[in-house]
Amino acid sequence: RNIALLKGGWCSEREVSLVSGAAAAKALREEGFNVEEIDMSRDVARDLYQSFGGNGPDAVFNALHGPFGEDGRIQALLEILDIPYTHSGVLSSALCMDKPRTKAVLSARGIRVPGGSVIKTSTLKGDHPLSLPYVLKPVGDGSSFGVFIITSPNQGPPVEADIDEELFGGIAMVEPFIPGREITVAVMGDRALGVTEIIPKNSFYDYESKYAAGGSTHVLPADIPEEVAKAAMEISVAAIEALGCKGLARADFRWDDRAGVNGLFILEVNTQPGLTPTSLAPEQAAAAGIDFGALTRWMIEDATC
Ligand code: DAL
Ligand code: MG
Repeated sequence: RNIALLKGGWCSEREVSLVSGAAAAKALREEGFNVEEIDMSRDVARDLYQSFGGNGPDAVFNALHGPFGEDGRIQALLEILDIPYTHSGVLSSALCMDKPRTKAVLSARGIRVPGGSVIKTSTLKGDHPLSLPYVLKPVGDGSSFGVFIITSPNQGPPVEADIDEELFGGIAMVEPFIPGREITVAVMGDRALGVTEIIPKNSFYDYESKYAAGGSTHVLPADIPEEVAKAAMEISVAAIEALGCKGLARADFRWDDRAGVNGLFILEVNTQPGLTPTSLAPEQAAAAGIDFGALTRWMIEDATC
């Protein structure tokens, strides 16, 4: 079967996507698929149908991350072209790329998320926008680009000049910093694969901790109470159902370990989780007995069934 694999793109997560894409392409070939890799740029996207050649592929494996690739836009183009694609559909992809709106849907379902609000970056004039400790980040980006974590009164507040306008687009999300630990749950269809605790080398799970070899330690299964792990998996499946995600997705949490099950807060759901050698979802799949080849094969089957 002919698979077009989309990778690269032109947003901040381009480099991550190139690594996810190379890993997925290799695995799919080993599974016997005929894979054409397409390095996405704006020009390639404009002529996507032509770049597929012939009758077009049987399915698209979408290895893009971030704006355009993960936010419903490429999904909409593929819907119009009538080509099946991996991961979530248009609405769910767009919703999950918008962290404040994701939180609104989840909290309407009774799923615990950090509070907070959306502010205009032009209002960042030197006062803290929220009481300490807090987090300020773009409403729609990934891999920790543009994240400020303000935990100490010695840290100045982010000001407009610190803000990368391309990432933020004039608005920022501010939310209370949840003390405690970082955990994540990958979900394959409606099956939670496991619970990983991430212990970053740096002060938080930033870009370097995510992708440098040894940048963080992944504890899988997480060394946390059984009922918390079980709740994290149940909440992840419920969240993914509420948001309408499909295929492979991953829910990221902070866990305030003083509060037991009630200390679990979903930060976001990633509809195109990383597939790099340091990424979490493939690692959980492997621990659940699903090697990377089988995972990528399942993603194609899920897209085309
Ligand atoms: N945004 C990165 C790719 C992730 O969630 O894994
Ligand atoms: Mg993310």
